[in-house]
Parts: sequence; structure tokens; C-alpha cells
Amino acid sequence: MTNHILIDGKINNFDKKINVTSDKSISIRSILLASQAVGVSKISNLLESEDVLNTLKALKKLGINYKKKKDSYYIEGFGINNFNIKRNITINAGNSGTLARLILGLLVKSKFKVKLIGDKSLSKRDFSRVIKPLRLFGVNIKSKKNTLPIEIIGTDFLRPIFYHEDIGSAQVKSCIIFCALNTPGVTQIKAKRSRNHTELILKSLNYPIHVKSKNNIDKISINGLGQFKSFEHLIPGDISSAAFFIVLTLLSRDSKLLIKNVNINQSRIGIIKILNRMGAEIKLKNKKVYKGENIADIFIRSSKVLKGVNCPSSLNSSAIDEFLIIFLVAAKAKGISTFKDLGELNKKESPRLNIGLKILKTMGIKVKRKKNDIQIYGNPKLEILKKIKVEKYLKDHRVFMMSCIAALSFGGHWKINDKDSINTSFPSFLKILKLLGAKIR
Ligand code: S3P
Repeated sequence: MTNHILIDGKINNFDKKINVTSDKSISIRSILLASQAVGVSKISNLLESEDVLNTLKALKKLGINYKKKKDSYYIEGFGINNFNIKRNITINAGNSGTLARLILGLLVKSKFKVKLIGDKSLSKRDFSRVIKPLRLFGVNIKSKKNTLPIEIIGTDFLRPIFYHEDIGSAQVKSCIIFCALNTPGVTQIKAKRSRNHTELILKSLNYPIHVKSKNNIDKISINGLGQFKSFEHLIPGDISSAAFFIVLTLLSRDSKLLIKNVNINQSRIGIIKILNRMGAEIKLKNKKVYKGENIADIFIRSSKVLKGVNCPSSLNSSAIDEFLIIFLVAAKAKGISTFKDLGELNKKESPRLNIGLKILKTMGIKVKRKKNDIQIYGNPKLEILKKIKVEKYLKDHRVFMMSCIAALSFGGHWKINDKDSINTSFPSFLKILKLLGAKIR
């Protein structure tokens, strides 16, 4: 079956209003936390992508019931550590690192062994980053090479830990927070700043979690064994999905776009900070706060002049899923853009740093790399005329979407593999592109 698309030439100018799909990180966290609440929670506008549907399937296996009515999911929880775990269950996290790493933190008291598996891409990813802190809590975990499959057997003798999370990974931090919920006493984390949706949801539930922030560090303390009641949550749009359309607008001629109702949490808007430094005109309108999360409409206009950026690595975590698409702006900007310390990019659904640079080079952009530091030599006049083929690359959704935006912004004849990868995070991606006028076969 064909699973590729063809794009011939750039998109025409557009002036539109769109909604992007709901935030994946908040969707996964809200249903995992609903499973730990007491009572029936109502989660509205949930992202219905494979990563989130796999989270619901995992919860079902753990004895949690849910149903969908109109635009909301109703999830019944029985409190912390009240899964109904049967013997010999296997949870398949599919492509989702967030699901796999976070759910481990909720299985730390399971009576029976639970096996965690994932797809080819997830099975290549590093789990030592969560295995290490979980073992300090006293959890029994078996894994051959610190990768999936993992077997976890809970314990009744969890002890609180002090942990220095120095990667800047929200998945690691959230896994530790989830384990801390099950652990008596106070767990403390000194974490390099990363997305803080888990902390914000728990705070909105009045859970005893405290955060002190200074420079790029969050000191988090969590009292274990608290209970919280069921809740309602309305999920906002995902900035990581909006990012593709922000960049398409910037790189297209005479275009304007309003993206409605997007989460603009400070720990997620590295892309806006980086693009504004490059001379982009991105405005946040109609700002609101909902349960501690900042939300706004994002207005973007095409940019006539974009300049290279010297991107400070302190912005890396808040733009971690957006670098591929930021690289396309660097490719069009006047001057050299530098990015440092991007090793984490190679630990995503595919080795994104390697692949992103390979695609830029194929497009005719000069790139220099020293370990994880890179320089992109922008070419404001770049017009692609040749044929470009983008391979499967572990079915990475963000590689597929970046390639579509490159084709529509720079021209050329592109054959891009793995259309279905978008189901991971953004099933309506191609539909929205077509709504803006993109011709895709
Ligand atoms: C996520 C955190 C990030 C990000 C991923 C989603 C989350 O990963 O890349 O797409 O929801 O916690 P890391 O925490 O590993 O950096």
C-alpha cells in the first residue's frame, strides 16, 4: 500500500484562521492523573492520536474504565495505586516515550509483574534515565539493555528520594513525580527546567506539591500518598503542532495565519522566542490562564527579512520538539545560525539531529557540525527545483511534517514517505495543509 505523498512546488499565499489538535503532553498527563483520582473525571477536547489512544488502552488493561460522550472522555479512578492489575499483563506504549516513561511511575506498587513494550522506534530509546531513579525508590525493574521490553514488579517498601534531574527531561521528571505520589514522605527533585504540565495539573488539584524556580532550575518537593478528587480538564491546542504552521507562514509570501487557542506555557514557547530573535513577527493575542496554563491565539505574518540566530542552549528544552522546523527557518535566514548541545534530539522517535541535517544538506544548505553543536548557513534565495525523496526514518511524525513544510516553502518535487506517521500526534495535519491551499497528492 502506498504510504507516501507527493508535493510539487510551493504553497500559494494564504490568509486563514485555524485550530490545531490538542496538546499531546497535557492529554496524556490528564488521563493518567484521572486514573489516580477518586471518582469520574471529565476530559474534554482530548487529542485523539495514537499516543493518547494507546494511553487509554493501557489504562483499560490496568482495570480503569472510561467512556466517550460527545466531545468528552469520562474516566473513573479509584485513587492512587488502585489499578486492578491481573497476572501477566503487557502494556504496549506504541511510539510514545511519554506514555512509556510516565506509566512506569504509576506501576511502582503493582502486585504482579507488568511488561512494557513499544514499537521499533520506542524499543531503540534509552530507559536508563527512568530506571535509575525508580530503582533508588526501591522499585524492581528488569531490562536487558536499559531499553524496552521492561518488566516492573511493584514493592510495598518505597522510600522517598532526592534526585538531580540534569537532562532537562519532563518525561523523567514526571515519572519521578508519579512514583513520589505512591511513596510515603517527601520526595525532592532538583530538575533542569522542562515542561511543567504535571506539576500544574497537580497544583490545580490542590495536591501538596511545591516548586521553587531559580535560573534554569526547579526545586520540586512532593508529599506522597495524598488523595485527590476527580476533576475536569479542557485540553488546549498543541504549540508543537502549531509550530509547523507558524514556520510555513513565515516562509511563505504575503501570508497571514491565526492559530486559535494554543498552550503557550513558558516551558514550551522556545520556538517563539527563537523565531522572534530571527526577526519573525509572531504575536500572542487573546491571552487567558486556565488551571495555571497560559493559552493564547498565535498570529503570524510572512517575514520579508529573517536573520540567523545564536541560540542559547538554555532554550533547548522549551523548543525540544521544534528544532527540525526551526532549522528550516535558519535555512532561509540571512547569515549563520548556531545551535548548541542538541544531543537530546538524537534520542527522540528517530535520531532527529542526524536526519534533520541530512535533509538540509539534500536541500542544498551548508551545515557544519561539531558533536552536538551545529551551524546552519542560511540562503535567503534558496529555490529548490530538483527531486527530493524523504525516507522512512523510523516513521518519525515530526520528520514527515518538517519535510512537507520544507517542500511547500522552498519548492521542488518531493516524495515524502510515511504519511501515516502523523497519526502519532497530529492526524489532521494534511487536512489543515490542504485547507491553506497546499496541493498534495
Ligand atoms: C514530553 C517531553 C519531551 C518531548 C516529548 C514530550 C512530555 O521529551 O520531547 O515529545 O510530554 O513530557 P523529554 O522529556 O524526554 O525531553
